[in-house]
Amino acid sequence: MSPLLQRVVLLCVLTLLSVHNIHGVHDNSIDLFRTHVNVVNTLEDNLDLTLHCKSKDDDLGEHLLHQNDSFSWSFRPKWPIGTTLFFCSFAWTGEFHYFDIFIDGDTGRTDCDDCNWNVHKSGPCRIPDHGEPICFPWNKGIK
Ligand SMILES: *[C@@H]1O[C@H](CO)[C@@H](O)[C@H](O)[C@H]1NC(C)=O
Repeated sequence: MSPLLQRVVLLCVLTLLSVHNIHGVHDNSIDLFRTHVNVVNTLEDNLDLTLHCKSKDDDLGEHLLHQNDSFSWSFRPKWPIGTTLFFCSFAWTGEFHYFDIFIDGDTGRTDCDDCNWNVHKSGPCRIPDHGEPICFPWNKGIK
């Protein structure tokens, strides 16, 4: 590649990267750099779930999910220095729990670009592309 062509290619790459940076958390466009999280209400007994997820920078709002309803969002993990943390509250009749649904560097939770979660009374389970669900307990105590 000629030096000029190299510079043009580099400029294009940098432009693409900076354009990707300004996508909001609700943008679901295909982006190699983005992580997608999807949370499904699979609570037993047909219970409604009120879900509220946040990070330090984003409040995704409160969402009422009926059985099998889902809520999803996507974001760009801070890379290469990981500090991304999303935590959610989960409420249904008489119950209230927190769970850290995305923690940079936590393999079981975060080893995914499409992170699909089913919410059970006992805690959330991540459904990997292959293999068995990976289930977690609720956070202990109030965050
Ligand atoms: C939710 O999904 C489960 C499993 O696919 C199914 O058995 C159930 O009927 C669904 N419930 C509703 C309300 O669609």
